[in-house]
Amino acid sequence: MSSRKRRPVIAGNWKMNMTPSEAKAFAAELYEKVKGKRGCDIVVCVPAIDIPAVSKVLAGTAIKVGGQNVHFKKSGAYTGEISADMLLDAGAKYVVIGHSERRQYFGETDETVNLRTKAAVEAGLHAIVCVGELLSERESGITTEVVSRQVKLALAGITAEQMNNVIIAYEPVWAIGTGKTATAEQADEVCGIIRNVISGLYGKAVARQTIIQYGGSMNAGNAAELLAMENIDGGLIGGASLKADAFSVIVDAAQ
Ligand code: PGA
Repeated sequence: MSSRKRRPVIAGNWKMNMTPSEAKAFAAELYEKVKGKRGCDIVVCVPAIDIPAVSKVLAGTAIKVGGQNVHFKKSGAYTGEISADMLLDAGAKYVVIGHSERRQYFGETDETVNLRTKAAVEAGLHAIVCVGELLSERESGITTEVVSRQVKLALAGITAEQMNNVIIAYEPVWAIGTGKTATAEQADEVCGIIRNVISGLYGKAVARQTIIQYGGSMNAGNAAELLAMENIDGGLIGGASLKADAFSVIVDAAQ
């Protein structure tokens, strides 16, 4: 199961940063830094309101655009929400689902993560589904149970074919935005556990091809070591994705 068989996906998660004007300028700067680097897929998951401007700047380039959340209904009385069709029409091809910040602050549950994942892939988006344990869960020795459960619940009803459009991002909550990265071994171990769960659900062939990213304080200094691990096929990068130089070094590390 060599990771060389999977093309890494390096995805920036801008979170709630950058106005549309700032996003436009930053996307142009980013393109200049990473153009010609063809060894991985590159995605920027931006605030929904930035998607049209960023998509316009990056049209015709290898950098794909994503959203950070998607509602599970096609349309209707859901004030403040955004549908998969809206994301696609605005230029997004990817969407982050179930980020720990949404689980922590916005009432996201395993059930809504599952609904959003189904809606995203049914509409033709690539879903980047986030899972990860809290520090207290790691310290209690239940990381495997927690992460396996999150993966199984997120993927309920997703077909083997739809798994082509699903990426799992393993993001230990204690490593997000804290500067505390999981060691490469810790990250690889859990990504391997996730791959085994997928193998149990869909068989070895699907498990072998599924992209499993690591996220949590990945940066220019630690990306190469993390991305060299057998089961880590890319990164979901928050803070370091807001600096074109750092993001470009991470893209280099995935070549
Ligand atoms: P971080 O965020 O890289 O700033 O830790 C990662 C994420 O939340 O996706």
